[in-house]
Amino acid sequence: MSGQQTTFTLNSDTSIPAVGFGTYLISNDDAETAISAAIAAGYRHIDTASGYRNEETVGAGVSKGLQAEGLSRADLFVTAKLWPGNPAWGDAPKTGAQTIEECDASLSRLGLDYVDLYLIHAPYGDDMRLEQWRALLELQASGKTRSIGVSNFNESHLDEISAAGLPMPDANQIELHPWSQKPGLLDHMARHNIAPIAYSSLVPLSTWRTEPGQDSAKTDDMKADGAAFKDMAQKYGVSEAQLLLRWGVQNGYAVLPKSLNPDRMAQNLDLFTFTIEDADMAHMATMDRGDGVAWASGDPSK
Ligand SMILES: NC(=O)c1ccc[n+]([C@@H]2O[C@H](COP(=O)([O-])OP(=O)(O)OC[C@H]3O[C@@H](n4cnc5c(N)ncnc54)[C@H](OP(=O)(O)O)[C@@H]3O)[C@@H](O)[C@H]2O)c1
Repeated sequence: MSGQQTTFTLNSDTSIPAVGFGTYLISNDDAETAISAAIAAGYRHIDTASGYRNEETVGAGVSKGLQAEGLSRADLFVTAKLWPGNPAWGDAPKTGAQTIEECDASLSRLGLDYVDLYLIHAPYGDDMRLEQWRALLELQASGKTRSIGVSNFNESHLDEISAAGLPMPDANQIELHPWSQKPGLLDHMARHNIAPIAYSSLVPLSTWRTEPGQDSAKTDDMKADGAAFKDMAQKYGVSEAQLLLRWGVQNGYAVLPKSLNPDRMAQNLDLFTFTIEDADMAHMATMDRGDGVAWASGDPSK
């Protein structure tokens, strides 16, 4: 791996830039400027979702950023996500037809003809899950998305797709960092050739989602360990954020750091001038604490 444009393979036709820019919790006031600044800083992969309620302003930032940098649509990898509904929240699961309509609506809000990856955001569709997956296969066949996947799916949700004899997802976007390593799920995904995409890589930092009202289920123990990677980061002459993100890409996971701070935006992309030594990777492998904490409102993998 070298350079910020390092990519991983998603399927035979699609590769995904190893570092994407996350857009959750970016307000509509900030999104256009933040996304165009991210493209100017060198990001070539943007992660969005209809659930983030900022697709129009993210789309405006994409358009502005591409234009300012003299880039074309094909130079950028864009991920969008279906909000599948959630009966537990009184929100009926989307049918197959509604899934197609939702993708069309996202494309229209983003101002794009296609996305590079379309994901089912969570396995909340219950008895509609397979119908939603069939709709994603249709969306891929019609060229509205180049690749398709899921997010927050566990082994049993993935088995449901294989038991139905359907093509498996290209990717599963899940919370992955040294405190939530999910080895069983990753083995299962590897057996089905499903690429992991890591979200919330920066959970162990004391600066992770500190603004009031931002979703977080970090325990008091985790909050007290806010500088757990300080010594190791110092050894490599990088920030703790860079160490955590490098851990992801060195394991072969695309990562999706979000920052509104221009210095952090730049440093989060600068991951390819150092390598974490095997002994430190082995030490980090012992730090797993189990489930993730990014969905304070409930474990999405259940
Ligand atoms: N599929 C899913 O269910 C799901 C769930 C969660 C997230 N995601 C995706 O993954 C993306 C990233 O996850 P995330 O937003 O949870 O968190 P993240 O990128 O892991 O962390 C963001 C937090 O860390 C801070 N930060 C960023 N860079 C930093 C640095 N270099 N040094 C210190 N602090 C830094 C940010 O504050 P500042 O902005 O102030 O820098 C923010 O509070 C999301 O935006 C979204 O696109 C997907």
